[in-house]
Amino acid sequence: MPVRTARASAAQSAVRYTADPELLRRQDPQIAEVIAGETARQTGAVQLIAAENFTSPAVLAALGSPLVNKYAEGYPGARHHGGCEIVDAAERIAVDRARALFGAEHANVQPHSGSSAVLAAYAALLRPGDTVLAMGLPYGGHLTHGSPANFSGRWFDFVGYGTDRETGLIDYGEVRRLARTRRPKAIVCGSISYPRHPDYALFREIADEAGAVLIADTGHPMGLIAGGAAPSPVPYADVVCATTHKVLRGPRGGMILCGEETAGRIDRAVFPFTQGGAQMNTVAAKAVAFGEAAAPAFAAYAHRVVANARVLAAGLEAEGFTVLTGGTDTHLIVVDPEPLGVDGRTARGRLAACGLVPDTCALPYGAGCGLRLGTAAVTTQGMGEPEMARIAVLCAAALYAEGDAVRTLRAEAAELAGRFPPYPG
Ligand SMILES: Cc1ncc(COP(=O)(O)O)c(C=O)c1O
Repeated sequence: MPVRTARASAAQSAVRYTADPELLRRQDPQIAEVIAGETARQTGAVQLIAAENFTSPAVLAALGSPLVNKYAEGYPGARHHGGCEIVDAAERIAVDRARALFGAEHANVQPHSGSSAVLAAYAALLRPGDTVLAMGLPYGGHLTHGSPANFSGRWFDFVGYGTDRETGLIDYGEVRRLARTRRPKAIVCGSISYPRHPDYALFREIADEAGAVLIADTGHPMGLIAGGAAPSPVPYADVVCATTHKVLRGPRGGMILCGEETAGRIDRAVFPFTQGGAQMNTVAAKAVAFGEAAAPAFAAYAHRVVANARVLAAGLEAEGFTVLTGGTDTHLIVVDPEPLGVDGRTARGRLAACGLVPDTCALPYGAGCGLRLGTAAVTTQGMGEPEMARIAVLCAAALYAEGDAVRTLRAEAAELAGRFPPYPG
């Protein structure tokens, strides 16, 4: 058989092998049961967790491929293991696609997660004990932005900026004042729940005034940026950290973008400083996701995600929830259900009982916890504005539902999700 044909047929049998659920069911029915149960859970309810999405079958195929078997410490062309010439191609493709997609000089696609990407960025640019200015956790900062329970809060001196009490928008006056008085070595912009676009140009200006480096942690909006539905931090930030699994719709993982002058430090900070061998199946799956995100259909998707979020936010406001910042520019919405007489944690439980799955998040100014909802997953399923309006009504009804009303709402949520299967066929 010619080499080309042999390779193609081997690749096909790999895809057949990995796509065969019966194989796992025969060998390990216990785990097959778990996977079937989780698949049913994901597809049988309305998934509103802002950090989640449904990857494509192609991304799943790359994740479940024999690339998982390959050890590949180092970088393409400079590995500590033999036999890396094929997986090198996967990483080169992923890097080239990431650079093209985001207009970056350099991309590192090896971080195992968003947190690993941030850890590597800090390792590349900071020394333990350095002062870092980032969004405070009650305002939407991530654990890696100075939580005492995280390496960031233990190893660095974090100073938190917040949002304006009235508008909910980043208080840039406070950012500037803290940058001037605390002289941080780095400023971090990015959040897990801020629903508006950060002003990257202003962050750059403030960082320059303070002599700080600017790290954009765009774990959440990276897919919107890829699709042209959110501004890019790439022209402004020294380093951009991101996840690949949220709106971007790739495999669970992280990535880092930066300029040529920082590239060597970033690469060494990822490997060997903070990680070992890259997960080559995930790297290949990232390449697939970047390829998908470069297609015009993805830009349309990203814009639909935002349009859907705006309709959902308006609907929730009309139902009596307080919508932080008065709406959204992104895929995520933060609401306080308190005016409806329910705290965030209770609200999440009641929504979940009715087949609506959001998560909770901190609210600024000691206001307890709110609900964070996102439209990335439901938009991938094909839901549009009428469905968002209906989901807002269902969310409000779920807060007070009991007995039969819970069953009725749950059935409607299941019917809605069932009409938009993420993996049809
Ligand atoms: C801004 C930000 N940074 C970092 C992370 C961490 O990502 P991961 O959970 O992949 O470590 C997240 C994930 O929620 C995030 O939103």
